[in-house]
Amino acid sequence: MNGCECTPTDAALVKGLARIIEPYRGQPNSLIQVLAKAQEYIGYLPKWVQVQVAEGLGLSLQEIYGVTTFYAFFSLIPRGRHKLSVCAGTACYVKGTKNVLKGVRDAIGIKPGQTTPDSRFTMEIVRCIGACGLAPAVIVNGKDVHGRLEAEQIPEILSLYE
Ligand code: FES
Repeated sequence: MNGCECTPTDAALVKGLARIIEPYRGQPNSLIQVLAKAQEYIGYLPKWVQVQVAEGLGLSLQEIYGVTTFYAFFSLIPRGRHKLSVCAGTACYVKGTKNVLKGVRDAIGIKPGQTTPDSRFTMEIVRCIGACGLAPAVIVNGKDVHGRLEAEQIPEILSLYE
């Protein structure tokens, strides 16, 4: 990865992104839709992607940046292969979200919003995932719920995901 991610490193990705943008050329109202497709294709939204989208839709880079930083769905940094969402809703918080976060930090060395250097996990904080009876809980990849967690259980759970 280059330092600023201002320029793409793969010409095929640039062409692929151009194909995504083309049907929406000059349509600024399609911004969120285009960004979602771009993120699905590239994996995240580095600066060169935002520049290309801005040019295609006829928007300023500031306008793009305003949207990409407003919505938690968009990521400006590379994401890991697995998304680890730690619940910080009220029930989980009371029952030990802090311990879960410590367990993750001790196991793989990341804080919320960070990705492991090997791109295996990205961790995020989320609000109630609808499993309050299992608090404190995490959900992996949006589907696997692990509950009633103690920090000591975290390494074993993470070992399920390569
Ligand atoms: S508060 Fe965590 S699952 Fe509801």
